[in-house]
Amino acid sequence: MGTLRSLYKKNEPITVMTAHDFPSAHVADAAGMDMILVGDSLAMVALGMADTNEVTVDDMLLHCKSVARATKGAFTVSCHFSIVDFGETNSAKIGDLPMGSYEISPEQAIATAIRFVKEGRVQSVKLEGGKEMAPTIKKITQAGIPVLAHVGLTPQRQHALGGFRVQGKTVKGALGVLEDALAVQEAGCFAMVLEAVPAEVARVITHKLSVPTIGIGAGNGCSGQVLVQVDMSGNFPLGRFIPKFVKQFGNVWAESFRAIESYRQEVKSRQYPAPEHTYPIPKEELEAFIKETDKI
Ligand code: KIV
Repeated sequence: MGTLRSLYKKNEPITVMTAHDFPSAHVADAAGMDMILVGDSLAMVALGMADTNEVTVDDMLLHCKSVARATKGAFTVSCHFSIVDFGETNSAKIGDLPMGSYEISPEQAIATAIRFVKEGRVQSVKLEGGKEMAPTIKKITQAGIPVLAHVGLTPQRQHALGGFRVQGKTVKGALGVLEDALAVQEAGCFAMVLEAVPAEVARVITHKLSVPTIGIGAGNGCSGQVLVQVDMSGNFPLGRFIPKFVKQFGNVWAESFRAIESYRQEVKSRQYPAPEHTYPIPKEELEAFIKETDKI
């Protein structure tokens, strides 16, 4: 696995995957993801909430810790307000600052980011917002915590944006996304998520920057891609809204359902557990035991 800096220099796409617990982080790490994001999408995919607004710092920290335990070994972070080197062997772990934990002031944001590193054991944090968040990104990076910015569609602000709408579909809108991207780059983010932006706009923005863009619903002209693991692996019951940009690469839910359904049938029919799933006892011990039980 290369470092972010070398991947970006080589123009090799950077792979990012969300994870919300030990098993989902373990599989993402084993599959060679360059970065693992403990996204606040965990509100919906792990905690059953309607959207990300409800999830708290404490919820996020519990899940960050679990994810951090799944990727072992040392890592290095050398951040000089540019691209981060997370080491050769492990996926870098990033914690998503939830709504309400960083917008009040840069001081609030630094305090929350420090908790993510100390308690959540992640190496960097992500926060949503463009030029208005630039001073905050600057403060956090100056405190030694690398920041992954997030521009374009920022789901935590869905109510202000009028829902989950594609951003940058007009000249004015696209210039606004570019302005945001340049501002967060200038503030020192090591990379930025670019969400729900027309592919051509995302490609132009990516070329204008000197830090990587991690696209989600932004086409393949970005420096890398991120998807929510449960969506791309098909590990979610019917009924969850799946955006157009998600490709379902597997059907984990159907496989889990098949396994659990077979288990139910085998338990009901006493097929399971079979003799090979049980522990033996010597014949004489068993006979003696039965004799003893006769006395009771
Ligand atoms: O919360 C999340 O999972 C995210 C990514 C999809 C970018 O923010």
